[in-house]
Amino acid sequence: MKAWRLHRPGGPEAFVLEDLARPEPDETRALIRVRAFGLNRSEWFTRIGESPTVRLPRVLGIECVGTVVAAPGGQFAPGQRVCALMGGMGREFDGSYAEYTCVPVTSVFPVDTGLSWEALGALPEMLQTCHGSLHTGLGVQPKETLLIRGGTSSIGLTTLALAKRFGLRVLSTSRTAAKAEVLERAGADAVLVDDGALAAKVHALCPGGVDRLLELIGATTLLDSLRCVRPGGVVCMTGILGGAWELPSFRPMEQIPTGVRLSSYSGGASDLSPEDLQRYVSLVEAGELTIQTGPVWSFDQLPAAHQAMDENRANGKMVVVVG
Ligand SMILES: NC(=O)c1ccc[n+]([C@@H]2O[C@H](COP(=O)([O-])OP(=O)(O)OC[C@H]3O[C@@H](n4cnc5c(N)ncnc54)[C@H](OP(=O)(O)O)[C@@H]3O)[C@@H](O)[C@H]2O)c1
Repeated sequence: MKAWRLHRPGGPEAFVLEDLARPEPDETRALIRVRAFGLNRSEWFTRIGESPTVRLPRVLGIECVGTVVAAPGGQFAPGQRVCALMGGMGREFDGSYAEYTCVPVTSVFPVDTGLSWEALGALPEMLQTCHGSLHTGLGVQPKETLLIRGGTSSIGLTTLALAKRFGLRVLSTSRTAAKAEVLERAGADAVLVDDGALAAKVHALCPGGVDRLLELIGATTLLDSLRCVRPGGVVCMTGILGGAWELPSFRPMEQIPTGVRLSSYSGGASDLSPEDLQRYVSLVEAGELTIQTGPVWSFDQLPAAHQAMDENRANGKMVVVVG
């Protein structure tokens, strides 16, 4: 089978298209013919050498959609349409940047849908992260006000769609005023331009602070985010777009305002039940949930897709169609 394999960290050109043996399924792992996969920042971190636990060479790719070729344990019939994600895929074992992948059945979800592969390919990891951030990380309740920091990212845009459907008022951010239109079109109730200091603007709009804040920029803005939230409200750190993993000399007593809660989300496939995944997929298919997708790439264009991620050109979830 053809697979894009990473032998050492580098730019998009570091991926090498190779002929590899098709992996063998067993009682606990299903063999999937990959039809499409979404691109993820975690793969980008691995590519640039920021994932020390991933041993190279490795076929990256933490999610895919496709059809089951074989599941010797009997969990899935051949031909079943599935989504597969996480559980070590593309990190501990070879993942989805390939024509076939072999995945633990606990990370495989059957789906009943007529969506195209490219439309379906945008969904699994993104739905899990956004649903998990909203419900596990933030514990949102209808009618609350949520601020999404890093709102134009694909995670930000999908969280916005799920949050509006759940009945939240949503404020969202971009560093550039020119992208406000993207957020307004996606349903944001208000857009804030993020220059790193949002607290004063947020309190002017929401006296006392917002109820919940999804932090996608990370450690570079986290202290300011904590000041945007009301006492009893929650900040959930899910992303690290700003590139900083650590807070130097963090002084919690001083820097976490009284009563504000700090949470994080780095969950897995089990945070999204098969029923929730199917429900979201059906809503997308019925046109009742709009997920902003980015460019779609063919399998041979994988390095170009990573280049687009380098340059923040996506404006939505990017998908590679394998054919
Ligand atoms: N915890 C989890 O389970 C999980 C799962 C998936 C992803 N994530 C994380 O979620 C975040 C979003 O991922 P994504 O794939 O949705 O990202 P993405 O679509 O590639 O995000 C692109 C956007 O990020 C913003 N951005 C880029 N560099 C930035 C910087 N240095 N500072 C501030 N903003 C910057 C830009 O927005 P503007 O130009 O509009 O400001 C850009 O439009 C990532 O950090 C990713 O690692 C976490």
